[in-house]
Amino acid sequence: MHSSIPPRTAPLVADTPVILPALLLCDFGHLADEIKKLEEAGAKALHLDVMDGQFVPQLTYGKVVVEAVRRAATVPFEVHMMVENQDDSAIDYAATGADIVTVHIEGLTRPKETLATISNTGCQAHLAISPNTPVSAVEPFLSHCTGVLVMSVEPGFGGQAFQPSALDKIRLLRELRTSQGQNFHIGVDGGISTKTIASVSQAGADLIVAGSAVLQQENYASALQELEYLARKTK
Ligand code: DX5
Ligand code: ZN
Repeated sequence: MHSSIPPRTAPLVADTPVILPALLLCDFGHLADEIKKLEEAGAKALHLDVMDGQFVPQLTYGKVVVEAVRRAATVPFEVHMMVENQDDSAIDYAATGADIVTVHIEGLTRPKETLATISNTGCQAHLAISPNTPVSAVEPFLSHCTGVLVMSVEPGFGGQAFQPSALDKIRLLRELRTSQGQNFHIGVDGGISTKTIASVSQAGADLIVAGSAVLQQENYASALQELEYLARKTK
């Protein structure tokens, strides 16, 4: 029997920190070329910002484009869902063949069930928290997800300034991971640049999303290499 879910790439693993370029500020007229360029530049994973114009003001793309990314990409990718009714639509994004589906705790009414729904497709389920949401909001669900994404900007747009309050959240998550004997990834998203990446890496982030710091640079490879160097130097 054929599954409707396209094959995933290898799961995101061990060699962290990983920089995930965000497909928000790329040239969407040449999406497959952009993905190829990023992979050739050394990207080991990608981050896809799905926005519906309601949960956040901007409207980007949905399932059809995510499926096109799956066909074009050979590296794993994360779908960051910024849409209404995440409980209902998470399954649609998990079924695209995404490696990680990240849902916002602020947008969920049934966190445990929705995380289980995502995991049951073979996809990793991550929880995101917006800048005004404390870590305590996701604490009861840490054993039900494989990652927490700390937003260091208000979700909705690329190119915003990094909010340093994210650093304490990353540190707290790292402490909780140790004290509870858990094994989840700690992600960070928003305002990452050559100026801010060392601080998030030092605080404990291992999945680091970078939009404008890669996609708005002339040379993706040198941008990625510099970010990676700075992230690893402080580890
Ligand atoms: C913001 C998105 C981010 C964004 C990051 O809502 O979730 O992933 O693309 O862009 P930069 O790195 O430019 O802040
Ligand atoms: Zn994002």
